This record gives sequence, C-alpha cells and structure tokens, in this order.
Amino acid sequence: MDKSALDISFGVSGAEAGRGENDVTPQLWYDLILRRCGLAFRNAQLSGVMNVVREQAKARGFSIEVYYQMLSKPGEHASEWEALVERLINHETSFFRHPPSFDALQRHILPDLRDARLRGGKLNLWSAGCSTGQEAYSLAMVAMDDEALKGDFTVWGTDISRYAIEVARRGRYGRRAVASVRPEDQRFLRPLNAVTPEYDITDELRQRTRFMVANLVANDNFSVSYDVIFCHNVLIYFSPVAVTHAVAFLASRLALGGYLLLGPGEAPNERPLGLVPVTVNGVRAFQRRSARSTEVRA
Ligand SMILES: C[S@@+](CC[C@H](N)C(=O)[O-])C[C@H]1O[C@@H](n2cnc3c(N)ncnc32)[C@H](O)[C@@H]1O
Repeated sequence: MDKSALDISFGVSGAEAGRGENDVTPQLWYDLILRRCGLAFRNAQLSGVMNVVREQAKARGFSIEVYYQMLSKPGEHASEWEALVERLINHETSFFRHPPSFDALQRHILPDLRDARLRGGKLNLWSAGCSTGQEAYSLAMVAMDDEALKGDFTVWGTDISRYAIEVARRGRYGRRAVASVRPEDQRFLRPLNAVTPEYDITDELRQRTRFMVANLVANDNFSVSYDVIFCHNVLIYFSPVAVTHAVAFLASRLALGGYLLLGPGEAPNERPLGLVPVTVNGVRAFQRRSARSTEVRA
C-alpha cells in the first residue's frame, strides 16, 4: 500500500466521513473493508482510502457507485477486490523483525515442544500475515538451527495478499533486506550471482516452507494444527472486534501445548478461549494447555 496516501490527513471529520458522494459514502467503504478484511482505518486516513478507491474505479471505467455495487457482493469480482485491497495494506516486514520473539522461540519454545512431542511427527509453525515471507523464513532458520529437531518441521506462511505470497514463494531478497538475517543464519542465503545484490533462500530452507493466500477474518479453510503461531504487526490494523475474532480463530488452530505469539501491543481485550497467558523469556504469549475436540496433524 502507498502508506503516504493514507497518512496524509485531509481533515476528514466523523461528519465529513459520512458525507455522501452520491449515495456511496466513505463510511460504506470503511464498513465493507472492515467486514471483509478486519482493517479499520482511522478518520484521518479515510480520504486517502477514498482517493485510492476513486482511482481504482476510474481506471476500470466505473463510477464509484457501480464499483461499490460490484465489490460489495461477496464471491464476485474477487480479483478486482484483491487489487483494491492490495493498495490499502501495509506489507512492511523484515527478517527477525522482533528479535525477542525469535529468542523465546529458540531458547524456550522449540526445546519445550520437541521434548514434549507426545504426538510424534513434525512440528508445524505458522506465520499468520507473513507478508513477503521474511518472518516465515526467520522461523524456519531458527528451527533449522535447532539440531535436535533434525529439520523435522514445516513453516506455513499465509497472507491475504496474493502479491505478497508470490514474493514469499520466490524467496529472493535484496541486500538491505537480508542485512537483518543473523550471522549464523547467513548460510541459508545464496547470492544470486557476482553482480546482482540479491540472495535466494536456499532449497534446504525453502523445502520446509509452504505459502498460501488466506484471510484471517474469513476463517479460510485451515485443517492443520500448529505448534507455534506468530502473528505480528497484523492485528494493529484491525478493529477490536476483528482482533477478537482473528485471535479466536488462531487459538482454534493451536495444537495442545502450542504457543501463540502476537506482536508487542497486539494483545486482545479478552483472553482467547482455552489458552493460558504465559511469559516466555520476557515475551508475553499464550499456550494451549487443554486439548481441542479435533486435531489434525500435517
Ligand atoms: C505489516 S505486515 C506484517 C508482516 C509480518 N508479520 C511482520 O511482522 O513483519 C501485515 C501483513 O498482514 C496482512 N494482512 C492484513 N489483513 C489481513 C487479513 N485479514 N488476513 C491475512 N493477512 C492480512 C497484510 O497483507 C500484510 O502483509
């Protein structure tokens, strides 16, 4: 998303936000985006959102009213909806973006899970809202570093953005992006060639990752139970109701003994059902201590 477009305040007040542009008000667009993606824009951002909507409608040759009628029908015009949302979301990310979470994973969570692997089989880790893949690959690097785990894991990365998932699957990053990869994990990067300052994620790591387009608000079809779920810097853009909904969904996918780590300041108002708040290496997380009725291992 072009954040600058939204960060510019055009001084839209609540009243102005509800002012009609013919019959399709900014509030209607706000509600539509909130309902379908969980994203809640501030009043000051609404005129930026409307600029994007108007541009997109005009480029497609529709009035804003027709465009709204098209996009407000669930299941129809999916690619146009994706194109619009793509311009409204923030993909900012980096490798090892919140180091304390990865330290907690390395020092406490992985040893705990692998020792208690009562169910056997491999561990499943999930980067929910993985953007262009750096968080998922960081999880995979930490898991590969755990020698006792012997590479017996899969990292799943999901995001609402098809573009972001394509970049993640490609696994190719520039010099600035890979600068935050820890020295011990640089071995998972292969320089593309001698002249281009780009790096590919090695096959060894890539083989242990799966990326999929999925919407955290739509409860897209997930059958796997996850031992570790990272959901960082996603819920900050959601409304409180959408946060509660998304966290309940994440909790419902957590395996017995599994950990859910949200980003700093992203705690839900209510404790997710069935999860216990824990502090791991100074990082606040949630753990499932009682079994769900059904669990599917990948
Ligand atoms: C700021 S990035 C955070 C990426 C990564 N988790 C991190 O912490 O670096 C937020 C990501 O959440 C994704 N996102 C926003 N709404 C979503 C939704 N409803 N379902 C799934 N992903 C969503 C966006 O597409 C974006 O890639």
